[in-house]
Amino acid sequence: MNDHGTMPRVHLVGAGPGDPGLFTLRGAEVLRQADVVLHDRLVHPEVLRHARSGALLVYVGKEGGGEQVAQEETIAQLLAHARRGRRVVRLKGGDPFVFGRGGEEAMALARAGIPFGVVPGVSSGIAAPAAAGIPVTHRGLAAAVTFASASLARGGPDWAHLARSPTLVLFMVGHGLAVATRALLAAGRAAQTPAAVIESGTWEDQQVITGPLAELADRAGPRLRGGPALLVVGEVVGLRDAWVAATLAIPEERAS
Ligand SMILES: C[S@@+](CC[C@H](N)C(=O)[O-])C[C@H]1O[C@@H](n2cnc3c(N)ncnc32)[C@H](O)[C@@H]1O
Repeated sequence: MNDHGTMPRVHLVGAGPGDPGLFTLRGAEVLRQADVVLHDRLVHPEVLRHARSGALLVYVGKEGGGEQVAQEETIAQLLAHARRGRRVVRLKGGDPFVFGRGGEEAMALARAGIPFGVVPGVSSGIAAPAAAGIPVTHRGLAAAVTFASASLARGGPDWAHLARSPTLVLFMVGHGLAVATRALLAAGRAAQTPAAVIESGTWEDQQVITGPLAELADRAGPRLRGGPALLVVGEVVGLRDAWVAATLAIPEERAS
């Protein structure tokens, strides 16, 4: 329902971080009713199975972000299907409004006078660290967390600001891991700060690589496979190492 008490025919929906079990019940409900689904690269195929068999599924993924034309085309398709009266779901990885350009799509719908609903998604920025055993805040260790994009478009991030955050979760870090870790060190973050790269968090092929900030790029770089990756920096990463060590130490019969 929207503010006018009617059910919009267009929805911006978050698909969650990967694991189809982390897709919301509300998301599944609107997906079942959709005539057209415009979906991204980072949406698990199992999530798409909630769509009804006759629905039109259109892949509108972008590989690196920032391609203005592709985004304009996606918006044009969204508006065209909506204007034909179809029930449209725009399905985006994680949450639609966390580095997902969902806001631009919402603005376009609003400008066109097309009512739409929003179904929030579980963002990878919180879920991937949690699934890897890293709480993004923790009493006594981190009372604040910054979510930022490592994209170097438009001058890149404010590294000095990011270096001061108790926990930093950096999106779109992929090939820029070494650049990001060097920039944080140059901006004053301590070399020994616990850090992690989480690639394909919550997916079947998730990998988590930890190490002191100054060593992480060398450790992780050769192992990364090109999947979506986050860099997490802060004392909270040390909890994972402690928890993993403790769990391994628990005898099998008590570990369940
Ligand atoms: C365009 S942003 C979209 C983020 C998404 N809206 C969200 O809330 O998770 C894509 C970036 O999100 C991060 N990402 C998305 N899914 C991920 C996952 N399962 N594991 C690790 N990072 C992920 C990566 O940094 C990737 O480059």
